[in-house]
Amino acid sequence: MSLINLLKKNYKKALFTTPSHDRGFFIVHKFMQFYKKDISETDTHNPVEALEKAQERAAKIYGVKYTKFLTNGSTSGIIAAVLSCVEKDDKVLIWKNAHKCHKNAVELAGAEPVFYDLPYDENWGIHKPLEPKKLEEVLKDDGIKAVIVTSPSYEGIVSDIKSLSQVCASYNVKFIVDEAHGALYPFSKELPETSVGIADFTVQSLHKTAGGLNPTALLHSKEINPQSALDKINTTSPSYPLLMSIETNINYLNSQKGKKKISKLIEDIKDLRKNCNGVEFGGDDITKILVKIQHLAGTELSEILYNDFNIEDEKTNSVSTMLLTGLGTSDKKLKKLEYAIKKISERVKK
Ligand SMILES: Cc1ncc(COP(=O)(O)O)c(C=O)c1O
Repeated sequence: MSLINLLKKNYKKALFTTPSHDRGFFIVHKFMQFYKKDISETDTHNPVEALEKAQERAAKIYGVKYTKFLTNGSTSGIIAAVLSCVEKDDKVLIWKNAHKCHKNAVELAGAEPVFYDLPYDENWGIHKPLEPKKLEEVLKDDGIKAVIVTSPSYEGIVSDIKSLSQVCASYNVKFIVDEAHGALYPFSKELPETSVGIADFTVQSLHKTAGGLNPTALLHSKEINPQSALDKINTTSPSYPLLMSIETNINYLNSQKGKKKISKLIEDIKDLRKNCNGVEFGGDDITKILVKIQHLAGTELSEILYNDFNIEDEKTNSVSTMLLTGLGTSDKKLKKLEYAIKKISERVKK
């Protein structure tokens, strides 16, 4: 199929997947409105300076020294973070099952990946977080230069970032957090604490949960300026309409309206959880609806949701299923999910 035909297709499923804008969130319309204004770096109105200023304003909002706008996803943020603090032949500690960009970043730096494993939670079919004690054991004797941790995980499992960061600091090891799935965290007290400002580098995908467009993301740095690393991997012809959408996205997240929208999403999910009694919900991040129904494998639940209720989840395993929500998730869509979960749970009980 050609790409144009692919995009012409109508999606009839209720998508609990990325991107969370669900094609209806205002960022999408803003982008379409301004796409016609595609400009280049050499425009007479000095876009380079405008971008620098926008990034400086964003860094103030996040309370860090540097926030960089990424138009090639968290992937490019992880690569730039590693290139900023790792040299050839250094050792970098990464999770064995991490997103592939972690290993790619280490290889691009000419460094050596050292892999760690994570304990497994049989009850949910997912991995548990990295224990600070376990990290300390590795750092004691391995000559590691940097560590990458994914928090939250896909399923919303959050690590003890403060303790991990203290362990790294005591061994003079740079700490990089892949918070690709946690871009809402800095803007709500009801969500897990963000790593931004705690870790040396934090990477967030705006497109995954914060209503942003594919593949907008952010790289935050506490001390080191990652610009020269970004210059090595970025195009010299960035999309200013996409960069504008990042600025708009951050301003919205930081506004009263944006914070209210996050609270409303959380309240709606709390209602869903309350109304589906007898069904188990897990994870540390309520916006990732991690669900399991007794006597039903996660993969079976996923199939029933898809085939009988037109609902697509983000991720499933033999035990549980995860439905991703974000800023573009409407209460109507959540009601549809609630109805489906209730019906399936009743069916299984019979
Ligand atoms: C944990 C994690 N890190 C990084 C990435 C890469 O993010 P992006 O698609 O924004 O490049 C992903 C993408 O799925 C991810 O799940």
